[in-house]
Amino acid sequence: MSPELPVEHDVSLQPFNTFGLPALARRYLRVTDPAQLDCLRTDAALAGLPRFVLGGGSNVLLTRNVAALVLHMAIPGREIVGEEGGAVLVRAGAGEHWHGFVEYTLAQGLGGLENLSLIPGTVGAAPIQNIGAYGLEIKDVFHSLTACDLATGERRTMGAADCRFGYRDSVFKHADGANLVVLDVTFALPRAWQPNLRYAELAHALQDSGMQAPTPRQVSDAVVAIRRRKLPDPAEIGNAGSFFKNPVVTAGQCAALLARFPALVHHAQADGSEKLAAGWLIDQCGWKGKNMGAAGVYPKQALVLVNTGGASGAEVLALAQAIQADVLEKFGVALEPEPVFI
Ligand code: EPU
Repeated sequence: MSPELPVEHDVSLQPFNTFGLPALARRYLRVTDPAQLDCLRTDAALAGLPRFVLGGGSNVLLTRNVAALVLHMAIPGREIVGEEGGAVLVRAGAGEHWHGFVEYTLAQGLGGLENLSLIPGTVGAAPIQNIGAYGLEIKDVFHSLTACDLATGERRTMGAADCRFGYRDSVFKHADGANLVVLDVTFALPRAWQPNLRYAELAHALQDSGMQAPTPRQVSDAVVAIRRRKLPDPAEIGNAGSFFKNPVVTAGQCAALLARFPALVHHAQADGSEKLAAGWLIDQCGWKGKNMGAAGVYPKQALVLVNTGGASGAEVLALAQAIQADVLEKFGVALEPEPVFI
């Protein structure tokens, strides 16, 4: 084994997944420098192994020990790298803590990321999910990223079109992006910043506190307050944020559901389809605040599954499947999980 690669064995992943689920990594490498990935390709013992790339562990459901080589992305760094078309370009290493990076941009006097405050996870994982909240998605402030093709070692600079961003989706979740590991991400933050108050709850929160012309910091504070009120802090209660995506249905399906359920929460999309609120659907099935074993549905937000203490991944999975079955039976809608299952 290459001396440059400090591969560890049987490492507990419990501290590295926000659900706090128990699982071992049979082989584990903390990647702090992109050069380690080059060594990996030429290491006879490691080169052929399947890999599992782990970021902040806020979007995984670990149901068993991981046989693949776990690459725990910890590449550091944050800097302003230039200016382009009225925007400041800010870059961060894949291993940077997301909210810490948002705080860094605010401290530089830069707005643009504040609606995404307090999202758990790392910078490198943000484009994979195209993380989004309160009327903003990564794709709206994205400039480019550097990825490494694990098969060839090639470094690629990818723009938004290359990343094929969708709702909680990107090329990295599909077969043609499966070999790509994100090394760093660059954001374009506008000099002429305007608050993004498209999300009604955020606009109301700022109005209620008398802020007509909020600063990026004030918007961030409001987002943090809303998130703290509605979502559990993974440091206290294990969870992976929204467990299911909000399902997208046709206008016809939505109309048929509305006829039966007039209170159905739905949002028209630009392409004419309708996005339903999975939290509302789950809530209507009576799951809010219910537990199955040590896995539970968060009492303040039915879209969030929680580890009430000592849960196994199998218990969370069983709860998720029971919820999916009920929502399918009552509404005819299939819920798709957000986290990656192992
Ligand atoms: N609702 C209920 N009962 C519930 C939960 C929600 O009736 O138990 C209703 C709410 O009243 C509201 C609607 O469902 O009318 C939508 O709820 P909310 O505004 O809280 O947002 P969400 O659809 O549950 C999405 C994202 C969150 C993001 C928020 C804010 C997804 C899957 N989730 O949640 O993202 O923070 O909007 O933008 O798109 C995440 O992905 O991990 C995440 C937390």
